[in-house]
Parts: sequence; structure tokens; C-alpha cells
Amino acid sequence: MLPTLVSLISLTPIVAHAALQVDLESPDSIKTAAKLVAGDLLSYYQGREPGHTLGILPGPPPDGDYYWWQAGAMWGGMIDYWYWTGDDTYNDIVYEAILAQAGPDRDFMDKNWTLSLGNDDQSFWGMTALSAAESNFQDPPQGEPQWLALAQAVWNEQASPDRRGPECGGGLRWQIQPTNRGYDYKNTIPNAIFFNMGARLARYTNNDTYAQHSTDTWNWLIEHVYIDDKFNVYDGAHIADNCTTVNKQQFSYNAAVLLLGAAHMYNYTNASKDWEARVSGLLDGIERVFFLNGTAYEPTCEARICLTDPISFKGYLHRWMAVSSQVAPFIHDRVMGLLKTSTRAAVDQCTGGADGRQCGFHWSTGMYDGATGAGQEMNVVGALASLLIEAAAPPLTNGTGGSSLGDPDAGSGPKKETDEFKQVTTGDQAGAGIVTVLLLGFAMVSLWFMVWK
Ligand SMILES: *[C@@H]1O[C@H](CO)[C@@H](O)[C@H](O)[C@H]1NC(C)=O
Ligand SMILES: *[C@@H]1O[C@H](CO)[C@@H](O)[C@H](O)[C@H]1NC(C)=O
Ligand SMILES: *[C@@H]1O[C@H](CO)[C@@H](O)[C@H](O)[C@H]1NC(C)=O
Ligand SMILES: *[C@@H]1O[C@H](CO)[C@@H](O)[C@H](O)[C@H]1NC(C)=O
Ligand SMILES: *[C@@H]1O[C@H](CO)[C@@H](O)[C@H](O)[C@H]1NC(C)=O
Ligand SMILES: *[C@@H]1O[C@H](CO)[C@@H](O)[C@H](O)[C@H]1NC(C)=O
Ligand SMILES: *[C@@H]1O[C@H](CO)[C@@H](O)[C@H](O)[C@H]1NC(C)=O
Repeated sequence: MLPTLVSLISLTPIVAHAALQVDLESPDSIKTAAKLVAGDLLSYYQGREPGHTLGILPGPPPDGDYYWWQAGAMWGGMIDYWYWTGDDTYNDIVYEAILAQAGPDRDFMDKNWTLSLGNDDQSFWGMTALSAAESNFQDPPQGEPQWLALAQAVWNEQASPDRRGPECGGGLRWQIQPTNRGYDYKNTIPNAIFFNMGARLARYTNNDTYAQHSTDTWNWLIEHVYIDDKFNVYDGAHIADNCTTVNKQQFSYNAAVLLLGAAHMYNYTNASKDWEARVSGLLDGIERVFFLNGTAYEPTCEARICLTDPISFKGYLHRWMAVSSQVAPFIHDRVMGLLKTSTRAAVDQCTGGADGRQCGFHWSTGMYDGATGAGQEMNVVGALASLLIEAAAPPLTNGTGGSSLGDPDAGSGPKKETDEFKQVTTGDQAGAGIVTVLLLGFAMVSLWFMVWK
């Protein structure tokens, strides 16, 4: 422990002045600080510059640090940032980015990413579209993809049997393509996001079908002990033994995305006792596992090495706890207490970089850890903005002013992408490996039509 700390300290430039200053009792001060960090975050986005791709962060590795999903998550954070602070500086960039990645079938499956796509990658973008609907983020004109319909397209595709298979009694697989590593893994995150989106779609549209699927998904997670009786939320299991050997690693995004979904189910059911107990239980688990003395902590990676993905999780944890407290008000006081102590710690370690205000990830140590990036900045924007939740409007619904246009059948029509695959497979450019993958993709698309119709 000690040598690590010493070497981190020596790497950290000593800057006496800057540091991120904020009075957490003052909404204006929070907004000022959040605006600075949001600007720092957007400095990682190069999508509008020549030679870069609109909508994504530099990557995916080895071309840059960030996978495709993380930009989708970042735009969701920026929608919350605008909705809670009122600062619309970045809205046009966010709008353009989401539409740029919606894909020709309007389901966040552009062919650039389809071959490496996981269900969770697709649904992180789906949740962002849903946040846009719930906040009346500027609606695209007629003829362009609509936020609610985009979310419904993702949900419909993930409800279909071809994303699941009969193993383990259903449940979404991690990967979509059979050739991808992880196709045999049925893990918590895609199922938890499907649960979350179903609960939010039910509340938004008042269509009970979504809620029924969310209840089924919850039961599936419980039955396979991906969520145990103490509300530990584990990572997943492989189909080889019918999902009976559960990988017990815990990541905060799993628990947080479930909390937000359960809070929406609580709200949608007009405060059912079952959902009340699940919301309470999940919050107990989150406080026990992911907070260290009131500060957000990612146990599975902070004790060792954190790769890029988990580094953005603390922002989701804060934001999704905050929205949960709006739709399940009985947890409001507990949530705000945690968010305040944690945000204090988050801000206090933002002393890095040449300007002395860049943020690290190890909030509970009380000092900048020597490394910054889009994930670290996303977390602190999310934490600061979440403190404004008490004065912010709750997520809208179709019945309370939400204007986004939906399409219950989105995602189930003929696929334009199928034709594009056809062109590639008949050309010479694709190597043998890729052709195999594409042919398998074809077989799946045909199967998908058979099952769906
Ligand atoms: C797909 O990749 C091409 C080539 O890099 C790029 O021009 C295009 O903008 C990308 N589209 C999306 C949606 O990422
Ligand atoms: C696999 O688990 C499901 C429940 O998840 C059960 O219905 C099925 O019978 C199990 N199959 C085998 C082969 O054990
Ligand atoms: C919740 O209450 C509202 C208003 O009383 C009612 O219209 C709605 O059907 C109820 N929802 C459920 C899921 O029971
Ligand atoms: C826990 O946090 C409080 C302030 O929030 C601080 O006074 C106390 O020293 C901390 N305890 C530990 C063990 O870090
Ligand atoms: C549902 O959420 C709204 C905020 O949108 C809140 O005012 C209401 O009290 C919640 N309903 C219940 C039953 O907690
Ligand atoms: C949403 O609200 C609009 C306007 O009130 C209404 O025409 C439409 O049918 C509603 N859609 C759903 C899915 O409830
Ligand atoms: C409710 O949602 C389901 C699932 O997407 C859909 O099949 C059905 O048409 C929807 N019902 C209405 C009234 O929109």
C-alpha cells in the first residue's frame, strides 16, 4: 500500500492554487463547478474534428481508450446535466451525437459496431434515448429518429428470443454475435438494463407489457441468485452449467441500474409493498458494498487495477440514486445524505493536471490518484449535477408533458443493415474470418424474422 501511495504522490504535479472549488450548500456554486468539469469532460470528445467519428469518444482500443458504449453513457450524463443545471451549452453536440450513432435501422446497431456489439452496449445508448424522452430533450424533426421510438426499438429487439436462447430458463446473453467471446455468458448488466428500460417505458407509456417483462426479468435474476437475499448483486454466469456457478464480482452499475428500475416499478405500481421492499433492499446493498464511510467506492477495481470501463461507474451510481429518490421519495433523505458526503470527497480530490482541477477515481483516499480521463470527469459532473435533484423536475411521462413520439413496433421491421451485410459478403474486401461472422449474422437475422413474426 505505502509504496504505491508514495509513487502516486511523486507523479502528481504540485499545484498550490487551483483545485475545484465548490460550496455544496449553494446551487449556484454547484452549477459553476459542474460547468467547469463538463467542459473538461467534453475536451475528450473529438467527434466533430476532421478524421474523427461523430458521436463517439476516441477509440475503441487500440485506436483510443474508449469503447463505443461509453460515449452513449456520456451523452446520457450530459442530458441529466442539462436537465438538472439548466445549462444547454452542449445540447446541440449531444443531439447530433445521439442521432449520428442511431444507425440506419434506428436501433443503435450501426454496422461499424454490430460485429462487436453486446446487448449492454446497445442498451446503454437505449437508456440515453429514454432519458432524452423523459426530459423533453429537443425532439428531432419528423422523419428523423425519435427518442422514445429509439428506446422502444432497443427494448423490442432485446425482448426477442434470438437474443436469449433457452439456456438457464431465458435471460439475455451478454453478446449478440455467436462468434463473440461472451456469447455463452448470461450476465447481470444486459438483463438489469432491460429491466430498467422496461420499468421506465411502463411508467412513461402506461403500457403494462413492459412492466410484466421487467417483473419476469427481476424474478429471473433472483431465481439464479444473481441478486442474493442480502441484495448483493453479482456479475453473471455461463450457460455451460445452466447458469449455476455465479461469478461473484460486484460492480456498482449493476446495482444502481436495478435500483433505478425498481424505483420506477415502485412508482408505476403506485407504491406496491413488494417494490418498496426491493428498493430498500437494493439501497441497503449499495450503501454496504459501494460506499466507504459515505464515499462512493468500486470494490472490485479499486482494490486492484481499474480498467477503463469501471472508471465511469461512480457517475451512474450518483445519477441513478438521485432519480430513484424522485420516483421513490421514501428513500430521499438516505440518498441525499450519501450523495452529499460522497460528492464532497469527489470534489476534494480534483487537484490534478496542469490546471490543478482534474479529477481522479480513488475518491475515498482524499487525494488525486495521478490519472484522469473521460470516465473520471463524467463521474464528478454526475455527482455535482445530482445534488441539484431536489429542485429538478422528475422524469416526465406521456401523461405529464413528455412530447417524444413512440412506436411500439420499432425495431421489428425489415433491417436495412441486412442488405449492407449482403454487399460486403459478396465483395472481396472482407477476410475469411469476417465473412464467417457475417454469414452467421445472416442466419441469425433470418431466424429473428421467423421468431418475431
Ligand atoms: C463508421 O465508420 C466510418 C469509417 O471510419 C465513418 O466514416 C462513419 O462515420 C462511421 N459511422 C458511425 C455511425 O460510426
Ligand atoms: C436449467 O435451468 C432452468 C431454469 O433456469 C430449468 O428450467 C431447466 O430445467 C434447467 N435445465 C437443466 C438441463 O438443468
Ligand atoms: C395507479 O393509480 C392511478 C391513479 O389512481 C391509476 O390510474 C393506475 O391504473 C394505477 N396503476 C397501477 C399499475 O395500478
Ligand atoms: C469518515 O468520514 C467522517 C466525515 O465524513 C470523518 O470525520 C471520519 O474520520 C471518517 N472515518 C474514516 C475511518 O475515514
Ligand atoms: C411517483 O413519482 C412522482 C414524481 O414523478 C412523485 O411525485 C410521486 O409521489 C411518485 N409516486 C409514489 C407512489 O411515490
Ligand atoms: C400520449 O399522449 C398523447 C397526447 O395526450 C396521446 O395522443 C397518445 O395516445 C398518448 N400515447 C400513449 C402511448 O399513451
Ligand atoms: C404495449 O407494448 C407492447 C410491447 O412492445 C406492444 O406489443 C403493444 O402494442 C403496446 N400496446 C400499446 C397499446 O401500445
